[in-house]
Amino acid sequence: MKNKIIAGNWKMNKNRVEAEQLITELIPLVKDTRNTVIICVPFTDLNEAVKLTKGTNIHVGAQNCHWKESGAYTGEIAPSMLKEIGVEYVVIGHSERRTYFGETDETVLLRTKAALAAGLKPIVCIGETLSERNSGNMENVLRRQVVEGFKDVTAEELQNVIVAYEPVWAIGTGVTATDEQANDAIGFVRSVFAEKYGKKVADALYIQYGGSMNDGNAKGLLAMSEIDGGLIGGASLVAGKFAAIVNAHK
Ligand code: PGA
Repeated sequence: MKNKIIAGNWKMNKNRVEAEQLITELIPLVKDTRNTVIICVPFTDLNEAVKLTKGTNIHVGAQNCHWKESGAYTGEIAPSMLKEIGVEYVVIGHSERRTYFGETDETVLLRTKAALAAGLKPIVCIGETLSERNSGNMENVLRRQVVEGFKDVTAEELQNVIVAYEPVWAIGTGVTATDEQANDAIGFVRSVFAEKYGKKVADALYIQYGGSMNDGNAKGLLAMSEIDGGLIGGASLVAGKFAAIVNAHK
């Protein structure tokens, strides 16, 4: 069985002082896990996070990056800038980016390719809305997001990618997908990857569940055969809760 990859997505939370407190509290609480631990923090916390986690088992990720190396793209951050300061992971195409900032499968692909080229490991988010699920379109949407969003990602590159299945209706709502709903959807996503890359590559791919995962439901979700980890928003802002999720899977 694979170990699990547990990533915290802090979103637009925690200033530098608060980040230092949270990370300092978290370090001893997760030090004995065999799972991979990642914290994806705001850009302004990255330097501090990299410094504080040096020599620990916590890895640091950003929450977005642009696809160009440099240039007149006000407000954007290049993948190489993240790499240079010691960042290892980057969240790409989170549903909040898709909803509020016009992110599309096409820009997700551009950002993913650029992150990979810079040596970062992208955590690529996909997931259906409630109306897409209720109208029977869940599989079409997930298929489109995988087919379009990974169009020219090679099998070799895919080894450095994490996929996060996050049903939009479960994000920040307190409504979690049931263990079976999450497992089934991830199983479907994996089958779409298998069509393109073959079963071996698809089986090796890490696919996380995200959406109101917390210290109460993590154990059940992480015990499911298709679920390779979690992308955690709200519950990652409290050291004890995030650590409980990390430690839920032994
Ligand atoms: P949530 O967020 O855990 O607060 O639902 C998950 C996410 O958006 O990655």
